[in-house]
Amino acid sequence: MKMAPNAVNVALELLAERRYGDFARRALGLLYEQRVAYGLRRDLEIPLVPPQAKIPIRIREMQDKDLPALFDGIESGMSRKERVEMLTRRAHLEAAIPTCYVAEDERNGAPCYFQWLMGPQQNARIQAFFPPGIFPVLRADEALLENAYTPVAYRGNGIMSAAMALIAERAATLGCRYVITFVEKDNIASLKGCKRSGFAPYLERAESRFLFNLIRRRRFRALGVS
Ligand SMILES: CC(C)(COP(=O)(O)OP(=O)(O)OC[C@H]1O[C@@H](n2cnc3c(N)ncnc32)[C@H](O)[C@@H]1OP(=O)(O)O)[C@@H](O)C(=O)NCCC(=O)NCCS
Repeated sequence: MKMAPNAVNVALELLAERRYGDFARRALGLLYEQRVAYGLRRDLEIPLVPPQAKIPIRIREMQDKDLPALFDGIESGMSRKERVEMLTRRAHLEAAIPTCYVAEDERNGAPCYFQWLMGPQQNARIQAFFPPGIFPVLRADEALLENAYTPVAYRGNGIMSAAMALIAERAATLGCRYVITFVEKDNIASLKGCKRSGFAPYLERAESRFLFNLIRRRRFRALGVS
């Protein structure tokens, strides 16, 4: 339901930019669209040598001082796609579900990646905040990694795989052996990053959206990969 006004705004922006082909695809997609995502899982008991990024990074919890660098440019100077990505993450931040980690560029202290690691202790808040049925209820030994983001200027440095590999390991402090994450089938950059940080597909999530996103149906299918 929440998506309808945003969808209208997007459609108006596409028209204003004279992107008629994109507008037509978007309009058709509002009547019926199917999206497929993979659930990927890492078993922390399987040893992994974390990949190295091209720049020196260290992982820590997000702090207030990181927010201007990450969020101040949302309203201006970002493409529509990046703005939508960042608005999603700002809403996640406002929901205050612990814990958001950042990778810090060790050369200047700037945040160059962020992502949430959420344990089963947060099940009620996860299910209340995210769209219904988008994530399974976490088992006692499972944590969820979501909403990865590398600011555009830092992309292509292998930061996602290096940072995600290390953030996933923090799940052990939540008593979890497994870490899961969900990635849209066509998000190749993210799928590559997940693979390099030790994640393998184990679930498929198919989502059907009808009539301006008013009706949504989601189902999971096991992929039979451990
Ligand atoms: C996904 C994302 C986090 C990757 O960040 P990153 O730190 O740049 O990741 P990496 O440097 O490890 O690059 C990932 C790989 O994807 C590749 N890649 C990037 N865009 C691509 C595209 N459109 N198609 C195919 N491959 C792509 C990169 O070249 C790189 O591969 P390579 O190392 O073999 O050259 C970043 O693109 C991002 O923030 N995207 C927007 C938000 C998002 O999609 N988050 C993930 C939600 S599941």
